[in-house]
Amino acid sequence: MKKKVVSAILSAAMVASLITGCGGSASNGGAASEAAPASEAAPASEAAAPASEAAPASEEAPAADAADTAANGDMTIGIAMPTKSLERWNRDGSYLEEQFKAKGYNVELTYSDNKIDQQVKDIEGLIADNVNLLVVAAIDGESLSQVLAEAKESGIPVLSYDRLIMNTDAVSYYISFDNYTVGTLQGQYVIDQLDLDNAGDKTYNIEFTAGDPADNNAGFFFNGAYDTLKPYIDKGTLVIPSGQSSFEQVATKQWDTATAMTRMQNILASNYSDGTQLDVALCSNDSTALGVTQAIESDYAGTNTVIITGQDGDEANLANVVDGKQSMTVYKAVANEAVATIDLADAILKGETPDAGLIDNAGWSFDCAYDTESYDNGTGVIPSYLLVPTVVTKDNIQTELVDTGYYTMGDDGYPHPVQ
Ligand code: BGC
Repeated sequence: MKKKVVSAILSAAMVASLITGCGGSASNGGAASEAAPASEAAPASEAAAPASEAAPASEEAPAADAADTAANGDMTIGIAMPTKSLERWNRDGSYLEEQFKAKGYNVELTYSDNKIDQQVKDIEGLIADNVNLLVVAAIDGESLSQVLAEAKESGIPVLSYDRLIMNTDAVSYYISFDNYTVGTLQGQYVIDQLDLDNAGDKTYNIEFTAGDPADNNAGFFFNGAYDTLKPYIDKGTLVIPSGQSSFEQVATKQWDTATAMTRMQNILASNYSDGTQLDVALCSNDSTALGVTQAIESDYAGTNTVIITGQDGDEANLANVVDGKQSMTVYKAVANEAVATIDLADAILKGETPDAGLIDNAGWSFDCAYDTESYDNGTGVIPSYLLVPTVVTKDNIQTELVDTGYYTMGDDGYPHPVQ
């Protein structure tokens, strides 16, 4: 099923490039320090989905009504992404840009180099350019209240993309994956791999690495994993030799790979240099898992394979999964997150007030829940569209990532993202 969506997206990308070729759309990343030209995203050869795979447009990505598409040409979507230095946001930006363009919208896409002030400036620029709707993946969920108040005053609807933006009533909707479930999947993976329910008196050592405290998602990921493993920690089956068990202790500023590596090197030096065995490194995502894997490779004396979790399906991490250096990653199909965002934005710009009905009417082939309880940003609950994450291991890379069309398997034996 997913295959069809990706194929449809790829087809849409081709349509988009045709439209661009006719001068029908504009992309302006100029204000941002990390502008991402769409052309960088997908080489033409990759964008061409094999005809046999392409879903009929009517089935998955209803070709926008020609009149609608033309009308959309008067409207511009402002997309503010956090940084190009964390792999996934490059994919998000490209997918969103291509698909909004395929529906006839103009797009301004900014990347802010993980700098909060830069993102505020970038959003100010988008407001000044009179965009009709904003899609924002915040660097710091707490720092956008003022600039988004300006957006609200200008009547610009704001969609909080992937990360919830806090303390502002300017946000209309939140689109993400079920973030708590991402963590529970990681925790459950550890339980299954170590067969913790039948561990008897055996004990295993675990260390946690979480994400950026400025990112509202990071706490959800950590809590999902920790809550799932807590019964085994309480029982003593899982032991945390470093004693670092709170989110604050294990967080990684800006999800930075080098920061995660240094912290793990310190933990290894202080707690494992006497031959203590590390069994699990529970990492919230792939950028942190990469640093932790590097630390284990360089500074861990043990010879056992450490279970290392991750999230995103970043290219380097998937190579590590293939090589047995990382055990799993939780994959979130950002192509589908983009589809949900486009359809939601489209409905809002047509004057509708979307709710659960959007999912029923859209006919998406991926699962999505409409949630009006879980995500309170401090001004009230933000209605949320939550997609479903998937566990990817060496055993199912082919079926989950390659057969679905998200990645191609290279001649080098490693998966490479299509976009
Ligand atoms: C996203 C993750 C990503 C992390 C770092 C989070 O907000 O949900 O997918 O790994 O940011 O980029």
